[in-house]
Amino acid sequence: MQSEAGPGALHAAIIMDGNGRWATQRGLPRLAGHHRGVEAIRRTAEACPDLGIGTLTLYAFSADNWQRPADEVGGLMRLLRSYLRNETQRLARTGTRLSVVGRRDRLPNGIPEAIAQAEAATASGGRLHLRICVDYSARDAIIAAAQRLQGGEATRESFGELVAGTMHGSPVDVDLLIRTGGEQRLSDFMLWEAAYAELHFTDRMWPEFGPDDLAAAVAEFARRERRFGGLKTAAVPAAA
Ligand code: FPP
Repeated sequence: MQSEAGPGALHAAIIMDGNGRWATQRGLPRLAGHHRGVEAIRRTAEACPDLGIGTLTLYAFSADNWQRPADEVGGLMRLLRSYLRNETQRLARTGTRLSVVGRRDRLPNGIPEAIAQAEAATASGGRLHLRICVDYSARDAIIAAAQRLQGGEATRESFGELVAGTMHGSPVDVDLLIRTGGEQRLSDFMLWEAAYAELHFTDRMWPEFGPDDLAAAVAEFARRERRFGGLKTAAVPAAA
């Protein structure tokens, strides 16, 4: 599995947490935090190419988020609908290819069609692949992939393709996984793709996240030594 949008481009994935608390701390309804979260999506995505990020995967709505109160779920779905309607032109203009990753059969009427239109209109974008996860569950993806395998042989590569395919995604390993909002957990996000991801947790609430925070995460990532289970190259003894 590789990163997209050019050789060496990073795949960053973000759990956009803290919208509700950001709003509540200001005496605002939780949905106000989600609205501000859309602005954070825009400025964060537009900062990616200059930071060497070719793929950005954002966790907008998990399969377990259906349990939230109906007004919050409805508000998030309206936000998704307006994002697809209002943002597509800007994404196309900035060379951003949009994909929506997750189940589509439980989304409200008209949204699957709007997703297909936005994906088609931005398909030629080569600066950034922006993947927004909606009704997404990594564990459900793995279960669905296992069911499709039906006892057949699999490699990590072929199984990774099945896992991604069950959620309308493409198989791309996550290099850098960021979670905002101060919590330190993965919440059923990219469990297969993040096998060797470097993790970065920040207290910044998502509505306040922006290019400087992303740059700080990338700078910390660049200082990490990734070994993928092997040894540091210099520490491998020369063959006798
Ligand atoms: C988690 O924070 C955030 C979400 C469940 C929704 C994230 C959604 C957006 C950033 C905007 C929606 C964008 C599109 C394109 C649909 P939380 O609300 O659980 O925060 P809390 O932990 O502070 O309550």
